[in-house]
Amino acid sequence: MSATGARELWSGLGLIGPLEARLSGALPPRVGGVSIDTRTLEPGDLFVAIKGDANDGHDFVRAAFEKGAAAAVVAEAQSDALRGAGPLLVVRDTLRALEGLARAARARSKARIVAVTGSVGKTSTKETLRVVLGRFGQTHASAASYNNHWGVPLTLARMAAEARFGVFEIGMNHPGEITPLVGMVRPQLAIVTAIAPVHLEHMGSIEAIADAKAEVFSGVVKGGGAVVPRDTPMFERLASAAKASPVGHVVSFGEHADADARLIDYAPEGQGSLVRASILGRTIGYRLGAPGKHQALNSLAVLVAARAMGCDLDEAAAALADAKPAKGRGARETLAHADGAMTLIDEAYNANPTSMRAALDLIGQTEPGPNGRRVAALGDMLELGPQSAEMHRALVDALEANGVDLLFAAGPMMKHLFDAAPAAMRARWAERAADIETPLAEALRAGDVVMIKGSNGSRMGPIVSALQKRFQRPAGPAGEG
Ligand SMILES: Nc1ncnc2c1ncn2[C@@H]1O[C@H](COP(=O)(O)OP(=O)(O)O)[C@@H](O)[C@H]1O
Ligand SMILES: [Mg+2]
Repeated sequence: MSATGARELWSGLGLIGPLEARLSGALPPRVGGVSIDTRTLEPGDLFVAIKGDANDGHDFVRAAFEKGAAAAVVAEAQSDALRGAGPLLVVRDTLRALEGLARAARARSKARIVAVTGSVGKTSTKETLRVVLGRFGQTHASAASYNNHWGVPLTLARMAAEARFGVFEIGMNHPGEITPLVGMVRPQLAIVTAIAPVHLEHMGSIEAIADAKAEVFSGVVKGGGAVVPRDTPMFERLASAAKASPVGHVVSFGEHADADARLIDYAPEGQGSLVRASILGRTIGYRLGAPGKHQALNSLAVLVAARAMGCDLDEAAAALADAKPAKGRGARETLAHADGAMTLIDEAYNANPTSMRAALDLIGQTEPGPNGRRVAALGDMLELGPQSAEMHRALVDALEANGVDLLFAAGPMMKHLFDAAPAAMRARWAERAADIETPLAEALRAGDVVMIKGSNGSRMGPIVSALQKRFQRPAGPAGEG
């Protein structure tokens, strides 16, 4: 975390107790950060050797010391083989040790803490909270989507003692996964962003998904708050789960007339939008730096959270202008075609029916240039279970409602949508994403708006990179980015 190694996140002595470690070698006076990945490790970091699905961190302990790790947390079983590599903190189980450090970080912290879960919009909401709360004080937030059994304790262990706010993304694929994670985070406020049919393959029903998300309330400190989506049929279920938990007050957000934080008006503007909303009885207008009504809805939850954290509502709303869509989540850029500019909307990070519709709305709200068209390049939405084919096919309404002119589709599930689309819209389908890349690039012309989206595993991301490379803007004064 710190290039100089001089920053102190944990003192060396302060590590021993929480990790329940035995020392082998000289204890460093301090560590500046905590890392589980040598690719992003900074000199002075504590390296924790975690065993993942693909790799075992113990194979990288020597590499960690070569990159300047201050010490490494390793399992008893591997400690003999690693003796002499550098200062070792030897434990029984490295993940348990990381959790111990996470609990110690939480125990020493005076920060106001928010946990964010939900089917979609976790990272967007977490990043927006980082921007907004960052206006008011030192804010610590999860990196990327570090929201699982190692991501959450790692994020906690990285929280500086002096942080004023903490924002934690918490995810799940199966029931029961959120409870232990939120039990470490102990937030004053829990946000559920949305309930949508994601991971239906593991979860079975939308009710089961709602119940699994509602586990987040179990870890809220007594009398804390819950922010729940009003527009889902699961609203009542979430609200009653919150009431049966340590949560003291429940606030709803959405377009529903009864929402406590209500979207009144949303209008796309430039790279973002103009929003009017009623937040807990006060009507305010603000500019949001990220595009899409879905982001406007997320921003309501962010404002409620900021208020709950004691921040001034107007100043929090003003900060929303600085919120930018993250890579693969609606970020847009101008591409240079030989004949003029085109707009690329990068939604390649992930997809499910909810975010797919939100993304198709984005393209609908974007006006193509002269002679330009709306072009959608879509890859399969994964893990949808037995209704997957129908969920893909059903998107045809959204394609038509948003004036999509050309559809490029990849993957066996997207074949169902492709076949259901009007003939004039059907440009190209292929089994693999890589095989629509060239036909798409060759079809594009000046004025087009092209949106790329699919589940991460559908490999649509490389198409974004290929288009960026092929239609690179000449170096010079920066245009819109
Ligand atoms: N409230 C929302 N409703 C629908 N789609 C959303 C919402 N928030 C974000 N999205 C879209 O869903 C995708 C995933 O967003 P992200 O914030 O990374 O969610 P998560 O962290 O829950 O996976 C992106 O395409 C994003 O634009
Ligand atoms: Mg995420």
